Amino acid sequence: MSDDVLLRVEDLTKHFSQSSGILDTFLSKPSVRAVDGVSFDIREGETLGLVGESGCGKSTLARTVLRLLDPTDGAVYFKGENLAELSGGDLRRQRRDMQMIFQDPQSSLDPRMKVGPIVEEPMKAHGLYEGEREARVRELLEKVGLDPHHYNRYPHQFSGGQRQRINLARALAVNPEFIVCDEPVSALDVSIQAQVLNTMRELQEEFGLTYLFIAHDLSVIRHIADRVAVMYLGNVVELAETEELFENPQHPYTDALLESIPVPDPRADGVRGVLDGDVPSPIDPPSGCRFRTRCPDLIRPTEYEMDAATWDAVLAFSRAVERRSFEAPDRPTVRRQFFGDGLPGGDVGGHVERAIDEVLADEWDAAADRLTEAFEEPSICAREEPSYTVEPRYGTDEHRADCHLHRDDTPSPERVDGEDPATADD
Ligand SMILES: Nc1ncnc2c1ncn2[C@@H]1O[C@H](COP(=O)(O)OP(=O)(O)O)[C@@H](O)[C@H]1O
Ligand code: SF4
Ligand SMILES: [Mg+2]
Repeated sequence: MSDDVLLRVEDLTKHFSQSSGILDTFLSKPSVRAVDGVSFDIREGETLGLVGESGCGKSTLARTVLRLLDPTDGAVYFKGENLAELSGGDLRRQRRDMQMIFQDPQSSLDPRMKVGPIVEEPMKAHGLYEGEREARVRELLEKVGLDPHHYNRYPHQFSGGQRQRINLARALAVNPEFIVCDEPVSALDVSIQAQVLNTMRELQEEFGLTYLFIAHDLSVIRHIADRVAVMYLGNVVELAETEELFENPQHPYTDALLESIPVPDPRADGVRGVLDGDVPSPIDPPSGCRFRTRCPDLIRPTEYEMDAATWDAVLAFSRAVERRSFEAPDRPTVRRQFFGDGLPGGDVGGHVERAIDEVLADEWDAAADRLTEAFEEPSICAREEPSYTVEPRYGTDEHRADCHLHRDDTPSPERVDGEDPATADD
């Protein structure tokens, strides 16, 4: 890996218009803000991992980077050239140098075509390797771990892992520099995943490839990435070297993703429920920090006097009301469940008391709105978009963590990395 930047993404934005007919032009529906101001570099020979829950904009980002989709705003530079300004031969060369592999090897391979012609297709499209295409395909099949004799077989004669290897051979056919891999192993069994990832690493080494590697699962990313970008609802919220991200995560969303990695111990009960609630709609994303509607570390609004334990209880109650995740038979039961022996005093207690009234009257939405308005909306998390860098503990690369917990004057600096606060040294 070198320090030379191969790809630079600057403030990239992709909004999908929801208008589909003449009528819609008058009704003007709001757009889907799938990717909203994303910036990062990828260096030559590097693998940048991109991780986030389903629907957070990873595929849209990948397609916009490759100009399969036109950006709404922002720019992509490949080897220093602004892709939006390329045309003719320059554009064709760039299309050759940047290839893509998709998640579903089944649907991305034409079932009526044999493997040979499938892998030859990009060479034909670019008018390359005339007269030596078949030999090149056989060689590539071997490089990706298949049998050169598979040249005359159809895709359905292969397993999922083998089909993904065919895709790899096809992506490599025109000798690209950069490959976007959009969840290439997500559909495969775990044991097969590891084998395909190993092959991808070997190919990277041999051909000097640079990868943007997308996954919704951090355990896959750990095996392959040099650096990791964590995406949430159209934004990159944390970016750091792989070891730094896994050992010293600095964004509550990354913490939650890490804690939801399935536990390999068969006696443990699989995925731990950390990421509660649904991803909000990208049509109308939350103000400030987009993770704030689910964040367990939401920062206490400064206008209330309360200690950290009280704030935790208020936030837990507020979230439980939003999700209707508890039974509310009577006032003492609700109080005891969330606040132990006593309700908080003052304004805080007043809001909580009225919300309990509403819950008991089966007016859950009113209670949820009241609590959100009283406690979430005044928080800095709802009022300002976070953008911070932190000192890395591992490696020397920049560590971006867009969370207000890194603001010096937050009232709740006690927990930034999931460690015991007593041992945290920052
Ligand atoms: N062509 C499209 N038109 C409208 N909305 C879209 C389109 N493609 C994706 N989206 C929306 O954009 C958001 C991000 O989708 P996507 O990029 O596929 O996420 P991911 O790959 O992380 O699962 C989703 O809310 C999705 O519904
Ligand atoms: S800015 Fe606030 S809501 Fe967002 S991740 Fe940080 S603490 Fe949570
Ligand atoms: Mg996707």
